[in-house]
Amino acid sequence: MSTILELDGVIAGYGAGDILKGVDLSVEAGTITCLIGPNGAGKSTVLKTVSGLLRPRKGTVTFDGHAIGRLSPKARLLLGIVHVPQERSLFPAMSVWDNLLMGGYLIKDSKVLRDRLDEAVASFPICRARAGEHAGSLSGGEQKQVELARTLVLDPRLILLDEPSIGLDPKSRQLVFESIRALSSSGRTILLVEQNARSGLAASDFAAVMESGRVQLTSTGASLLENPEVARLYLGAGTAGHATVLAPSTDSPGPSARTPGEEPR
Ligand SMILES: Nc1ncnc2c1ncn2[C@@H]1O[C@H](COP(=O)(O)OP(=O)(O)OP(=O)(O)O)[C@@H](O)[C@H]1O
Ligand SMILES: [Mg+2]
Repeated sequence: MSTILELDGVIAGYGAGDILKGVDLSVEAGTITCLIGPNGAGKSTVLKTVSGLLRPRKGTVTFDGHAIGRLSPKARLLLGIVHVPQERSLFPAMSVWDNLLMGGYLIKDSKVLRDRLDEAVASFPICRARAGEHAGSLSGGEQKQVELARTLVLDPRLILLDEPSIGLDPKSRQLVFESIRALSSSGRTILLVEQNARSGLAASDFAAVMESGRVQLTSTGASLLENPEVARLYLGAGTAGHATVLAPSTDSPGPSARTPGEEPR
């Protein structure tokens, strides 16, 4: 395995204060890594610093061996970094097919575009079945399928998925996670943020817990699922979303809690 994405000491924020306070994170090529943590921990902000919506104030973001922290979002897109944001991102008044085409607006070669559209449709048949319908008329789960299909038009190497299962019924949620696994099987790397921590960890090879702007714990998805402290805090076996800080070691037998430094939103 080789590291495709590395954040090293990343400090970033929106206004005067820092939201990310020194984030270290490695993502292995071809794997799914899940970020979990309480509301306001900085999970979405990490994805934004990778896709270029936000530039780090300090620290480095390295993709495939290149420092990308100063690149524009478009330049990162051209490197194959595609961000599916937390909020719905389809154009609701446009057809499903036109939304898919929007994914290819940077592609000049019509044959390449056609091949990519074919791949997207093969992976997400809903794009053909509902091609002419307004995207806004689709259910939340169906829209998420189209959003994932649209990433394929860009032939992504790294897909950043922010809360892809939010607001979905259990069946649609299962379908989304199956689609994410299929994207990973086709060789894409996925960095996933999930509130449904149990499903997210179960679908992921690796996972990291974020709290108060830092990665506090990293491990495999399977071992975090079995970690009693993670279960208590994030898997519904206790007060989910509480901003208790986990011990920042991957090697310790289990994370220990200390007093929260900050209240969750
Ligand atoms: N555009 C913005 N401008 C100013 N502050 C922001 C902006 N976006 C996020 N923040 C703040 O940054 C902090 C971290 O937000 P972020 O969205 O990264 O958290 P999160 O871990 O994704 O939380 P959630 O689970 O609620 O999605 C929060 O305090 C939030 O209010
Ligand atoms: Mg978020």
